[in-house]
Amino acid sequence: MQRSHWKNRWTFILATAGSAIGLGNIWKLPYMIGVNGGSAFVLVFIACIFFVGIPLMMTEILLGRRAQKNPFNGMQQLAQEADASHLWKYLGGMGMLTGLLILGFYSVVGGWVLAYIVKAATGSFSQISASQSSTNFDALLASPLILLGWHTLFMCMTMGVVARGVNSGLEKANNILIPALFAILLVLLGYSMSVGDMQAAYTFMFTPDFSKITPVAVLSALGHAFFSLSLGMGAVMVYGSYLQRNVSIARTTIYIALADTMLGLLVGLAIYSLVFANQLAPNAGPGLIFQTLPIAFGQMPGGNFIGMLFFMLVAFAAWTSAISLVEPMVAWIVENTQIKRATSCLGIGVAVWLLGVAVVLSFNEWKDIKIVFNLNIFDTLDKLTSTILLPLGGLLMAIFAGYAMNKNHVQDELNLNRHWFTLWRVTNNLIAPIAIFGVFLYLFGVIQ
Ligand code: TRP
Repeated sequence: MQRSHWKNRWTFILATAGSAIGLGNIWKLPYMIGVNGGSAFVLVFIACIFFVGIPLMMTEILLGRRAQKNPFNGMQQLAQEADASHLWKYLGGMGMLTGLLILGFYSVVGGWVLAYIVKAATGSFSQISASQSSTNFDALLASPLILLGWHTLFMCMTMGVVARGVNSGLEKANNILIPALFAILLVLLGYSMSVGDMQAAYTFMFTPDFSKITPVAVLSALGHAFFSLSLGMGAVMVYGSYLQRNVSIARTTIYIALADTMLGLLVGLAIYSLVFANQLAPNAGPGLIFQTLPIAFGQMPGGNFIGMLFFMLVAFAAWTSAISLVEPMVAWIVENTQIKRATSCLGIGVAVWLLGVAVVLSFNEWKDIKIVFNLNIFDTLDKLTSTILLPLGGLLMAIFAGYAMNKNHVQDELNLNRHWFTLWRVTNNLIAPIAIFGVFLYLFGVIQ
């Protein structure tokens, strides 16, 4: 069967950037910065992007492009080609399941964003105070039926697109909407700069204070580097499998990683200047953007419209990311069974929707149900995927590409000159695995 391919390099960049840029940048990174002590976290996060994220993104793309298959069959075939154990295929299988676990909470948060489009459009941010804004958000979390409605809509949007296949125009929308997201962010940033306390935000995010670097901050920063770049579960591998051979993997990776990281940090600056100007707590957690941004939109001229546009773009960014979370699993079913794409989307959609129902309830009715380590359902899914499953997936991919695969095959795909190839090898074979392994040792209490 002839695989469909991206029309050119830009569609691949935009689709992969569409996967990478999402709630991770706009919703998660800002609040994690606050929860983990500000600049210490930012610095470690940037280091993780450079020393782990970029090399492993190259690795994941090269595995996908070489295999030209979904992660499970792809790993199976690469292992065969390298004369390695057939067990490697389960690495692909683990990734596909991880994607579904992530989508279970991603879709619920995507639903919050949809809800905020309507809130902005109906003027409920007008002249809102900081405490009203927090109350608003808490009220949303306390209403299971409303959350459920939005979660359901988000799931339908996601599965609807996946059911129609990769080349169906979504990546065209990316062409306009990702740049539009950047543009509106600049407006927001300009506005936050004029009404907020940009100086305090900058100091909070970028003044290095190494005494604040805690093991937990390192752990979360590493996990978030994976989450933010969509690494470790095969999403990028699948997109890579649709990539033509003449495109430079290294250059594309760098564009995507830089755009992704910059976007997250810009949102962070906009949010923290509002936080400090309004005496809000930087460590508010997952509600942070929903509590702070409405204050700015409520004060700026045309804020209802700009706020609506902003949340629409965020919803779009979340949508293109969500798609990449299920595409690997769907590709696997379609390529291995007689089941039709649409049918498999329906089945997967229902399963993930049910998981999302549990997540919805964990914000209200089931708030006190703890799964492990005193974490509720939402936190458990988030921590399990970001700090364990994604880094584990990345570690194994790095080991496979670095030690099991034939070096010439790797070089064939990467097509780098000697120096860059050596640099990739050092990061992929040593630095990234050691960093991830160190974090795991800490996580399992081996080092304190
Ligand atoms: N990177 C996306 C974000 O920042 C989320 C995402 C999409 C993802 N696909 C993924 C995370 C695959 C991990 C693995 O919002």
